[in-house]
Amino acid sequence: PCQPYGGNFCIQLMYCCTILPVCVWLLSVKPKTGILMLNMGGPEKLEDVHDFLLRLFLDTDLMKLPVQSKLGPFIAARRTSKIQEQYSKIGGGSPIKHWTSMQGEGMVKLLDEMSPETAPHKFYIGFRYVQPLTEEAIEEMEKDGVERAVAFTQYPQYSCSTTGSSLNAIYRYYSNRGARPKMRWSVIDRWPTHPLLVECFADHVRNELLKFPEEKRDDVVILFSAHSLPMAVVNRGDPYPQEVGATVQRVMERLGHCNPYRLVWQSRVGPMQWLGPQTDDVIKGLCERGKKNILLVPIAFTSDHIETLHELDIEYGQVLGQECGVENIRRAESLNGNPLFMEALADLVQSHLKSNEPCSRQLTLRCPLCTNPTCGETKAFFASQTLS
Ligand code: FES
Repeated sequence: PCQPYGGNFCIQLMYCCTILPVCVWLLSVKPKTGILMLNMGGPEKLEDVHDFLLRLFLDTDLMKLPVQSKLGPFIAARRTSKIQEQYSKIGGGSPIKHWTSMQGEGMVKLLDEMSPETAPHKFYIGFRYVQPLTEEAIEEMEKDGVERAVAFTQYPQYSCSTTGSSLNAIYRYYSNRGARPKMRWSVIDRWPTHPLLVECFADHVRNELLKFPEEKRDDVVILFSAHSLPMAVVNRGDPYPQEVGATVQRVMERLGHCNPYRLVWQSRVGPMQWLGPQTDDVIKGLCERGKKNILLVPIAFTSDHIETLHELDIEYGQVLGQECGVENIRRAESLNGNPLFMEALADLVQSHLKSNEPCSRQLTLRCPLCTNPTCGETKAFFASQTLS
């Protein structure tokens, strides 16, 4: 680098002293491995609610509506004020970005120690419906010069409506640009029974059970609650219900089947048929049958968001609980900032990188009744990535 300054030693020295530390710094911060944490995201402020809903109702991977380009914006506009009201009751916005950032920081710190050969690691957040959007995150990764990119779903259980939609977004990003990625991509597409994930859920259930009056503890019914799916999605062969069931099974095994339990489904909207039984119906049914000590456990999201803070805590824990005459209804804490959960994330990435597999075998199979051609193209895109 000193060549351009010919024979002037002082200028050479000054130039080298300035430029070399910058080069060293650039080399040290350029991430070798970028981990894109995929999730739906949530509006951070009330003003973001409308755009969040708009993107959600226009997502054809998530739902198919008649004349979606017109009906989607109509429904988004109509629902905005009601959803804003809900967010205002939980502090004015979704904490999902806060928790994802904290989890990402913890994860990459561990990864740099555990896997120096793939370091430095940097995490990126790719939300589907709010900033930072998946497409923006990919651009940033490409700009940073990431060599090895891991699309890491933050949904432990795979559904074509959630993880599938995010993966389709990555595929579309490249196909719309008509360019092949500069980075080598692979996917962590599901992790429903990862031992540390199971351990975290079991710990949170144990901690919450201890908060019930001692004489009631044995009587507590554990309700694992997951976001429901329309039956049309289930019936085309979506793997989500089975994978959520697998998580529940492992958690209960870890807990030594200490209490009776059920897997129930929440957040149904609209007139279609949804996978049940619904969480609220089950709470009512249990109370009518004299089972009035209930522990709700969110099992398909790892961070707090509107479905835990509003639906489970306020709608069911406070309002419905009182109507039904529950004795005690509590909710297990979400995994949020649990350090063991960050270890789980780091372990998942490390084992994935070591495996040299572009994705799980399960991802290569389309739903047997899938009619969305993008799903096939996305699967082929990820399966064809050469990693070594
Ligand atoms: Fe499942 Fe297309 S809807 S693969």
